[in-house]
Amino acid sequence: MVGIKRNIDLPPLRLSPRLECLLSLLPPAAGRLIDIGCDHALLPIAALERGMVGSALAVDVRSRPLDRARANILARGLEQGIGTVLSDGFDEIDLQPGDAAIIAGIGAAVIVDILRRARKSGKFFPGFFLLLQPTRSTAALRMYLAPEWETVAEKFFFQGGRLYNFISAIYRGRSKEISIIHNDNITKLPVVSADIYEYIAKRKASPASLYTAWMGECNLRDREIASDQWRRYLQHQLSAAGEFMLGAPSEQQEIWRELCRILEGEVKKHG
Ligand SMILES: C[S@@+](CC[C@H](N)C(=O)[O-])C[C@H]1O[C@@H](n2cnc3c(N)ncnc32)[C@H](O)[C@@H]1O
Repeated sequence: MVGIKRNIDLPPLRLSPRLECLLSLLPPAAGRLIDIGCDHALLPIAALERGMVGSALAVDVRSRPLDRARANILARGLEQGIGTVLSDGFDEIDLQPGDAAIIAGIGAAVIVDILRRARKSGKFFPGFFLLLQPTRSTAALRMYLAPEWETVAEKFFFQGGRLYNFISAIYRGRSKEISIIHNDNITKLPVVSADIYEYIAKRKASPASLYTAWMGECNLRDREIASDQWRRYLQHQLSAAGEFMLGAPSEQQEIWRELCRILEGEVKKHG
């Protein structure tokens, strides 16, 4: 930890498995961690106390959560290492080389809105690392990221009866004007961690729940996603699911086959 000492009278901060999982996806030796939607600021506190980052900013759009964050930071004696900022997304933040950001526990539509505005203001630079945990509509987020962000890892995580998706991505630069529905540039299959097999084994998942797990809680009906774009996206997911089927343990083959059938049916619906 660079020059920051935690309050040694306090026991190490214990995080929920979800937050532990998020932290484990941070790149080694990140410089400054920006936690957008920090609420209690547990992530920046733990990251700093564990020496995973040099400093951090705890950011929230509402003052109540930010007060909570401040109180926690003060209680841990970390006010020199973690700043707090009242900001809607990155609006009040100037990003610097070495920064990495987390946006967790927020719906994909809001995350996309935050990213679009920051991109429009030219805040992202090539190599900028982002760790996301959308609460819903993961598919819409993947579509938004595809043209300009390289997905580093995608992880499924199961806790307390809920499935969480984590996506880490690196900004690769502007290619063209994009919008939430622009997915012409999808060329890469998502990189999905093998946790999905564990999820299926533990949950004895049905093909339908696997479909939900795979696609995220898609809530796209109210979005203006053109049918042909959605079909291309589904085709893409179908290839990815097909690849996963090839690598799946034999007892899971049937469920993957069934998922592929569901996806094929969805592709046809939009054909
Ligand atoms: C459910 S909490 C998640 C807290 C923490 N990130 C986690 O994963 O446990 C969501 C937080 O995001 C904040 N938030 C929502 N929209 C935001 C925005 N546009 N900019 C910054 N913070 C936002 C909310 O005020 C709330 O404190």
